[in-house]
Amino acid sequence: MDDVELVKEKINIVDLISEYLPLKKAGVNFKTNCPFHSEKTASFVVSPERQIWHCFGCQKGGDVFTFLIEKEGMEFKEALEMLAKKAGVVLQKRTGDKKDSKDRLFEINLKAQEFFHYILTKHKLGKNALEYLEKRGLRPETIKEFGIGYAPNSWESLSKFLRKRGFTTEEIVTSGLGVASKSGCYDRFRGRITFPLFDGKEKLRGFSGRVLIPTEPKYINSPQTPIFDKSSFLFGLNLAKSQIREKKEVILVEGEMDMIASYQAGFKNVVASKGTALTEGQVDLIKKYSENLILGFDMDLAGDSASRRGIEIADKSGLDIKVIQLSGGKDAAEVIRENPALWQSAVEEAMPIYDYYLTSIAKRYDSKNPSDLKKIGEELIPIWAKITDDLVRERYIQRLSAFLKTEEKFMRDAVEKARQQPLKSYTGLLKKANLSDNIVSTKSRRELLEEYLITLLLHPPSESNFVPFFPETLFLAEKWRQLFVYLVLYLDSISFKSRSFNINEFVLDLPKELLAEVDRLYLMELDDRLMDDKSWKKELESVVSELKKALIKASLERLSLEIRNAQEFDKIDVMENLNKRFRDLSVKLKNL
Ligand code: UTP
Ligand code: MN
Repeated sequence: MDDVELVKEKINIVDLISEYLPLKKAGVNFKTNCPFHSEKTASFVVSPERQIWHCFGCQKGGDVFTFLIEKEGMEFKEALEMLAKKAGVVLQKRTGDKKDSKDRLFEINLKAQEFFHYILTKHKLGKNALEYLEKRGLRPETIKEFGIGYAPNSWESLSKFLRKRGFTTEEIVTSGLGVASKSGCYDRFRGRITFPLFDGKEKLRGFSGRVLIPTEPKYINSPQTPIFDKSSFLFGLNLAKSQIREKKEVILVEGEMDMIASYQAGFKNVVASKGTALTEGQVDLIKKYSENLILGFDMDLAGDSASRRGIEIADKSGLDIKVIQLSGGKDAAEVIRENPALWQSAVEEAMPIYDYYLTSIAKRYDSKNPSDLKKIGEELIPIWAKITDDLVRERYIQRLSAFLKTEEKFMRDAVEKARQQPLKSYTGLLKKANLSDNIVSTKSRRELLEEYLITLLLHPPSESNFVPFFPETLFLAEKWRQLFVYLVLYLDSISFKSRSFNINEFVLDLPKELLAEVDRLYLMELDDRLMDDKSWKKELESVVSELKKALIKASLERLSLEIRNAQEFDKIDVMENLNKRFRDLSVKLKNL
């Protein structure tokens, strides 16, 4: 058994999570409100038997390690060390020195940062750069707090400096500070103001560099390295995070200078995305600190499909989004330089994202022009359809209809059509919190029923020795079909020995892909009434008959198409045959 398994065995996940959250017993599991997204009904579930947790709202889940990684923002290594200490496990020394080489990269970055900062603030080579920053309104204490520096316009001053301090060419190249060349490497950042890219935990992951003399590209960044990934990085988080928590709001701007300007002017709950549309990694990061996101970009977000996608990601993850409107094509830094009060009022007057979409439409299109009208519909209806809250959606359907001078009913129907068919009125006793809010919007009724049936089978009442009697063809989804077969084999074997269902025993022989699905479904909370053998069977039967009905209905639809075809081509005998099958199936459907 390796360290990880040993620690996992000794730590009880329920005890660990209880240190952070109030867990309540719910059937075989425990549950509470999810700490990773905001919710009113608890959908965060912990299974003591499987030693896992899962949130049915935000779909996060995992084991004791993942919990600490998510909750405390720890690295895996840190989580392992902490839990090992708790469990009294002495960790074996790792043979691979991968972790150490990462530490070396953080060290080399810090050394480079020292060098750049020294050049900017103390050396004559940095004089022009310092003057430039002062001209842009940066105060000396700001330059110090952000650790801004200057990379001299030379090919190897940094590389030489780093080599003298014991770093190898390979390390310099891996860190991205140097670019490999025939003779070794040359400096990546030359003649640029440097911004150290610290993450939320003050780790120096890389650099960006802005030109002093206008050239292209204006900014360069550290490449992807073992410790830097631009797509899930937010500039300024290390300095802004406490204010973000305090104000319960995060302002997102486009670049380093915007972030620094806002921070310096006293609006400190601000981070920058480095000129890219929002990514999933960044949204996850933001969510750790706040639910309320205020976008302060200088472009038209609605007109840009990458931005729209980013906003969709943020929206889906449950962030409340507002947009700051900057006039005259100015970016945050310019507005603040002109008048900080202007920035303050712009932040205060930030508009809810859907209002913003409406104003953007009004600016870009002429709704009296039919081809524009079509474009507006194509752009906004899918967005409107994704508004999860009914009241909010209805409100914006009204607003959009009023703006386009169309009938509300027409708009409502269009939006409804764009929404996926939700589960309407299933008698299912699967607790609402687990199903209705979350999964319904993305899965069809049929998929849900199949999933629910498996869930039921995974939760037999304790005295049950039931073995399913229906064929696996009832499931259309391949994975449920497979899982069902495994389940039947297992249930059959235990009913034969009259033993009761044991989830850990069942998963022993299961392929890995199916294990994850079983864990998810096993964590679903079923209605208490289903602990009773009779109600459980009744529920099972009703789901099975629902599924059968759905299958028959699909066949009937296919048949009626064929019948119409046959009619068209006057194929009388074919038609008779089809009609008979149609009647038989209809009767079958009625009798179900
Ligand atoms: P902008 O081009 O809007 O620059 O890029 P800016 O922030 O206004 O820069 P200043 O005020 O002239 O100094 C926005 C952000 O996009 C990233 C940078 O993070 C920049 O701050 N960017 C931009 C790059 O990474 N590479 C580029 O070539 C340009
Ligand atoms: Mn700018």
